[in-house]
Amino acid sequence: MIDGPRDRPRRLRRTPALRRLVAETRIHPAELILPMFVREGLRSPEPIASMPGVSHHSIDSLRRAVVEAAEAGIGGVMLFGIPTSKDAIGSGATDENGILNTATRAVVAEVGESIVVQTDLCLDEFTDHGHCGVLDASGNVDNDASLERYRDMAIAQANAGSHLLGLSGMMDGQVAVVRDALDENGLIDTAILGYAAKYASAFYGPFREAVQSSLQGDRRSYQLDPANRREGMREILTDVDEGADVVMVKPAMSYLDVLADAAAASPVPVWAYQVSGEYSMIEAAAANGWIDRRRAIEESVLSIRRAGADAVLTYWAVELARWLRS
Ligand code: PBG
Repeated sequence: MIDGPRDRPRRLRRTPALRRLVAETRIHPAELILPMFVREGLRSPEPIASMPGVSHHSIDSLRRAVVEAAEAGIGGVMLFGIPTSKDAIGSGATDENGILNTATRAVVAEVGESIVVQTDLCLDEFTDHGHCGVLDASGNVDNDASLERYRDMAIAQANAGSHLLGLSGMMDGQVAVVRDALDENGLIDTAILGYAAKYASAFYGPFREAVQSSLQGDRRSYQLDPANRREGMREILTDVDEGADVVMVKPAMSYLDVLADAAAASPVPVWAYQVSGEYSMIEAAAANGWIDRRRAIEESVLSIRRAGADAVLTYWAVELARWLRS
């Protein structure tokens, strides 16, 4: 007979009721945000091959889907627009009748009271070269010229009724410039989500198909190097300083250390974006029968919450919210 251990953590794992009582992290539907794609010229939704279960919406199908999202009790939606024509400066982004601004007005009219309607503020879907900003004469992404475009895009999106602008372009100074532009135009209530620590990640792969990206090359001259944790913190602090209402870490699962750092230091909410590659990897493995789909989804989002995200952008937002409520 051995002397048993005095410390027995298993005692609290014994029954489902005990485990439920001592769970340190929970997910609530209100802290889930659904990214959605709306494509100009579509009459009905079209599936995105690289993201099984996710579609491009027409304006009408988008309206129906946001009503479902609101009914599921999620906290918000993040809208991405795909225009029929692109040009060097991304004109469609600042056109009040461009696809994203048109869709925003429709969605705000439909569900604007019940969930937070957010819009992606970046030029990459609208430029023919696919970069997040405009290019200079030698083909490099021109930071300050891009800021001019972001400023106009912010005003167009705020006027369309967007509650919160998702600044995902990773240009230096973007939060400050957009905050000033909004304030100068009396748009003081439009909030800013700074995609502060956005890494140059391979996990955006399926998204590039989703937005029919025309990108040649990569975004390493403006998005963060995956090697850098301290620099992620620098970007978080800069965005807070420039007036971001919320900051974000993106992608999520490969950057939980950055997320934990941000959550420990930020005075504003910290969100995380579980990106397309994170989604599609789990879907693909589940489709092959290699993992339990529902458990993998729940565990992945829980781990992002556990690392410190106050809310999570995830393509499973509505499905997960329904599971949580049933
Ligand atoms: C840029 C943007 C990207 C994503 C959201 N906003 C992609 C990029 O930097 O290429 C990625 C989202 C995802 O992969 O789910 N506007």
